[in-house]
Amino acid sequence: MQALLNTAIKAARKAGDIAQMNFDRINASDIKTKSYNEFATFVDEQAEKAIKDIIQSRYPDHGIIAEESQPKKSDKFDYVWIIDPLDGTTNFVHNYPSFAVSIGVHYNNNPVVGCVIEIPSNNIYTAIKSEGAFCNNNPINVSSENNLQKSLLVTGFGYDHDEKWEANMNLFKLFTDVTQGVRRLGAASVDLCHVACGIVDGFWEFDLHPWDTAAGILIVLEAGGKITQMDGRGFDIFQKQILASNGHIHEPMLKHIKPIIDSLNC
Ligand code: IPD
Ligand code: CA
Ligand code: CA
Repeated sequence: MQALLNTAIKAARKAGDIAQMNFDRINASDIKTKSYNEFATFVDEQAEKAIKDIIQSRYPDHGIIAEESQPKKSDKFDYVWIIDPLDGTTNFVHNYPSFAVSIGVHYNNNPVVGCVIEIPSNNIYTAIKSEGAFCNNNPINVSSENNLQKSLLVTGFGYDHDEKWEANMNLFKLFTDVTQGVRRLGAASVDLCHVACGIVDGFWEFDLHPWDTAAGILIVLEAGGKITQMDGRGFDIFQKQILASNGHIHEPMLKHIKPIIDSLNC
């Protein structure tokens, strides 16, 4: 597992360098619109290629799911690398300094290795299954806060402005009222790492993709946190909605979320 993590770190660093070299240098003509308000740049593509080249040279018989490539699902391989080459592209194109590279390795659909590099801090969050979670090689833990009222939360909003987006606006309002605040940073992998290192107590989001969560969920779990779907059912990376917390405020959060989830047709 350590060899897999070393490869993930090497690949994530390479992609992070590509992003940092190009930060504040993106022109309007570099931005491709994937869907309403959803963008990609040559940086997303170059970073993804660099990551895939490193993985394929060391592990040619492993599967890869990467945001800017096909396939989006793979059942053919025991080991699958799940890559977000640039998480927080909207921040990146606006020169807003908060984005990341996220690489998770799953074995038979279970996360075994996770690596997220947060940029520009260059904090590197890592985890190997059953071996704990680390930031810059120092062990990290979720917070011990057990009072929702004293908690700080973070969320994100998907690109589709559908009924779940609307529901999340309501949840944002509700949780802002019953906690010490809700943040919206714009990179889901970073949000998960912030739960893992205890600077926020919980994170939820509706419309995520496997590459947003593949690495971060292991980092949260290994830091002692809890991950479920937003109705409390077990999470896997192909379930789009997630609730991640320090464990202590999980039930109180689920209680607040339930009426809103129950009102949705999904
Ligand atoms: C997005 C970010 C954002 C989240 C969106 C994601 P991208 O990823 O993680 O925080 O709210 O749901 O799609 O498109 O920047 O890789
Ligand atoms: Ca993403
Ligand atoms: Ca991305």
